[in-house]
Amino acid sequence: MTTNQTDTTPHIKHNSAALRFWHWGNAIVISGSLITVFINSTVLKPRKSAPVVLAEIQKDNPGFTLDQARSAVGVLEDKVWDFHVYFGYGLAALLLLRILTELFDITDRKFINGFKKIWHQFKTTKKEGQTAWHDLAVKSLYVVFYLLLVIMVVTGLCLAFDDTLNFPKSLQHSIKSVHGFCMYPILGFIVIHLAGVFLAERKDAKGIVSDMINGG
Ligand code: HEM
Repeated sequence: MTTNQTDTTPHIKHNSAALRFWHWGNAIVISGSLITVFINSTVLKPRKSAPVVLAEIQKDNPGFTLDQARSAVGVLEDKVWDFHVYFGYGLAALLLLRILTELFDITDRKFINGFKKIWHQFKTTKKEGQTAWHDLAVKSLYVVFYLLLVIMVVTGLCLAFDDTLNFPKSLQHSIKSVHGFCMYPILGFIVIHLAGVFLAERKDAKGIVSDMINGG
């Protein structure tokens, strides 16, 4: 009997290289976008920061006005928005990559097929009822997240190209409100996602973080 036979079956990774690149790239650009929003709504908020800047400059230049301080803060704020838009282009490119991954990945790794399988399990409850519920809830959360990403990218690109698109002011305003609002469910998703991964690592899905690094 041979004891040291080598396994020649090709090993298929659980997460493709493209998906892992998308995952960590997405984490970086979303964090970057959120940091720019945070800076502009705190340190660089003209209403709050202009009086502070004014007080500092007036020590040497008593003639400096509040309007001048406001426009100085506004210039910095715009610079930070430029970075937000660069992260936004990154997010748009990654979303395109995610769509291509879904279209061209092998059948077993496609998100839609995973979802169908879990839906079928849920319907027939071959698995224990609670596990089927949990799996369906996790996958559905990802569906919501992908929808939010699409909304964020479409509205963000509309804002970035508003000069070219020339939408009426009221529509532009609504697009900005939708874009700004969607940040909150995205923040909610990040909290639930991180908590879920943390709990899964401690319980029944050990190694899911390293699977997202080395493919699994
Ligand atoms: C998860 C990702 C994103 C988050 C959390 C986010 C969040 C925000 C928030 C909260 C605002 C302020 C809205 C307001 O003032 O009412 C904003 C503005 C903006 N965002 Fe995003 N955004 C994201 C992705 C994008 C993308 C993909 C683009 C496309 C390039 C983009 C382009 C813009 C632009 C152009 C503005 C207006 C900046 C200005 O007022 O000059 N964003 N974003």
